[in-house]
Amino acid sequence: MIEFERRNYQSPGYYIRAASKRFEAEGAQALRHRVFVAEQRIFRDHDRDGIDLIATHLVALSTYAHEADQVVGTVRIHEEAPGLWWGSRLAVDSEFRAVGRLGAELIRLAVCTANARGCTRFLAHVQMQNVTLFRRLHWRALDEVTIHGTPHMRMEAELPHYPPCPDPVAGWYHRPRLRGVRA
Ligand SMILES: CC(C)(COP(=O)(O)OP(=O)(O)OC[C@H]1O[C@@H](n2cnc3c(N)ncnc32)[C@H](O)[C@@H]1OP(=O)(O)O)[C@@H](O)C(=O)NCCC(=O)NCCS
Repeated sequence: MIEFERRNYQSPGYYIRAASKRFEAEGAQALRHRVFVAEQRIFRDHDRDGIDLIATHLVALSTYAHEADQVVGTVRIHEEAPGLWWGSRLAVDSEFRAVGRLGAELIRLAVCTANARGCTRFLAHVQMQNVTLFRRLHWRALDEVTIHGTPHMRMEAELPHYPPCPDPVAGWYHRPRLRGVRA
């Protein structure tokens, strides 16, 4: 009976998409503040900058009865020069880390969106503790740099692993696999 219930239990899903609604943009900003100001103390007052004005902001949304609920992850992408794209401010709510592969899904949407927009190189400054995560997602390390007073690795995505996503506002519905339960 217990096995039957486990097999039929559906884990909650997440929308992974570009922010297009006010609550998504505000939720992303609030999440970044929680992570980069309050938790990591990389910024003292706020983490906003000029890139926010030109960037495409992506979000991971938890769901309640299949409706989008809260912003629990975010990242932004922007084109610095023709073909050269950057991802930055990747953050997943501390309650949702390492449970739903939300960081990995946001990275996937980030690079796939840029790829559909003519990206030839996609780079990010990655905090050192996250280099392994990015390597596993087909990124290669370029060089070490100090940003905001902390060491980072400049890394580049291997684009063939990230097929173009032409409609990031639609994005996708991501349902994490339950650990230990076979389909
Ligand atoms: C980094 C961060 C975005 C990762 O998000 P996440 O949703 O927890 O990561 P995921 O669950 O998608 O990780 C995918 C896989 O990598 C693993 N992983 C996650 N973080 C890792 C790390 N730092 N090192 C090695 N592996 C890691 C996960 O366990 C998972 O493994 P699995 O596929 O076997 O289940 C999140 O930890 C975070 O917001 N940290 C604080 C802010 C931050 O560091 N931002 C990034 C700046 S570069």
